[in-house]
Amino acid sequence: MPRSYIITIASEKGGVGKTTLATNLAIYLKGLAENLPVTLFSFDNHFTVDQMFRLNKTSNTHHIGQLFSGSNPTELISTGQYGVNYIQSSRNLFENQHLVQSADQLAKIIAQSTLQGLIIIDTSPTLDIYTRNALYAADRVIVPIKDAPSLENCRNLTDFLVQQKRSKTILKLLPCLIDTRIHFDGPFRNSYQLLKAYAINRGYRCYEGFIAKSPKVESLSTNPAGKIYPVITHGRNTDVHLQLTHLARQVYLDYLELGPTRLKEVANELFDQEENLSQEYKSRVKKLQPTCLCCDVPVPEDKIWPNAYFLENETGNLSGFIEEDCFFELLLQDFYPELSGKEQQKLLQEILTGAVNKSFILLQKTQIDGEQAQIDLFRLDQQGEKISGRSILLKKRGRFQRQGKTGLLQLFNQATEDQTENFQQLLVRQTDKSPLSLLKHHNYMKWQTVFNRVQIDHKLDKDFE
Ligand SMILES: Nc1ncnc2c1ncn2[C@@H]1O[C@H](COP(=O)(O)OP(=O)(O)OP(=O)(O)O)[C@@H](O)[C@H]1O
Ligand SMILES: [Mg+2]
Repeated sequence: MPRSYIITIASEKGGVGKTTLATNLAIYLKGLAENLPVTLFSFDNHFTVDQMFRLNKTSNTHHIGQLFSGSNPTELISTGQYGVNYIQSSRNLFENQHLVQSADQLAKIIAQSTLQGLIIIDTSPTLDIYTRNALYAADRVIVPIKDAPSLENCRNLTDFLVQQKRSKTILKLLPCLIDTRIHFDGPFRNSYQLLKAYAINRGYRCYEGFIAKSPKVESLSTNPAGKIYPVITHGRNTDVHLQLTHLARQVYLDYLELGPTRLKEVANELFDQEENLSQEYKSRVKKLQPTCLCCDVPVPEDKIWPNAYFLENETGNLSGFIEEDCFFELLLQDFYPELSGKEQQKLLQEILTGAVNKSFILLQKTQIDGEQAQIDLFRLDQQGEKISGRSILLKKRGRFQRQGKTGLLQLFNQATEDQTENFQQLLVRQTDKSPLSLLKHHNYMKWQTVFNRVQIDHKLDKDFE
């Protein structure tokens, strides 16, 4: 079960103190919970995290972008200063955002990893796909607000959470960069009190206290060493030090109270999904015809013929395997009758085998009248795009029912058994050493994408006619 508690620092408003808060909070939390791993990373394209935590100049090649390309998160982590673990930042996140398709990816990746402890995520001032992932995965979202516009921007964050069926209460606001020299007349004496009142009035939860604007804190990121210093070491005599200590306590108490719950939910969903996928796989296997779709030889239970062809019609009510030789016989006899010599046929079979073992074959039948059918044979690429094709006209009697053999038409008849449609498609693909793997979720999705594409193309062709 996952054991990480994720704290995301987010605000669509730039310059409100997200990164300063994320980096410093990591250190204060580590101070409170020495034995708990604290890991920090940023989905922004600057290197503040690295500049604050890198132990020496030599850096490894791991970076945060690799989280979404299959790397194990624990392998990306570097041990940093102040006992904080971090993942190095990346400048190429923006260009690579197309690699991240949905908001639930990060949560699933971490839920399946062995990462432990507190994870703090700094985000960019946009609701891009990385921020959405960080929000989706979060047990707690801390939103720094420094003025009325940044408070208004919280709406988009709550809208996103609601859309993901998450509770708004995981969001907690924190007034930041508060200029304590400014005083107002009236019930709210300073901008902290005013912001907090606005926030509560709009139904948001807030942390106790705030983070003051401090020239000392601001200066910590500019120094001849090119480092960024934390408040705990270089700003200990500021109010911000006390404020961060107070904030870290509240964040830690929240963690103690609820513990890591979000990733457990995600892990349970993943488990249910896998259960469903495995059920779907089993029902696809169950639906397979027990014999070769051409010659009626029983399909061996333990080991389906090597290089067999898998075939399915568009409704999925016919699906099964054809032995390799049967399939070529079917094609040669009906589509290449001009090749009668054994040598020629062998050559063609070799050429076809080379061409089809990575592509799809589409057989398409259109009934012209009761007696005649047109059958098209297309070779498709991996995406379902037609590469080449051939068409033949077949008569019901005559060429098909040769000497009791099951010909193409019989195959189509089997596929149309309970249908009145005069049009039929069969998609065929050569299998590899483990033919049933084609029916596994991931491969079967690809298969269906190709089938869908073929059907859309066919509909477009029809409309065009
Ligand atoms: N408490 C503070 N007192 C004074 N200056 C601060 C304080 N916190 C942050 N700053 C300064 O304010 C600026 C913005 O802070 P920071 O980079 O943390 O904000 P951000 O929300 O992460 O910005 P962005 O949205 O651009 O990522 C920085 O120059 C930082 O040094
Ligand atoms: Mg930032």
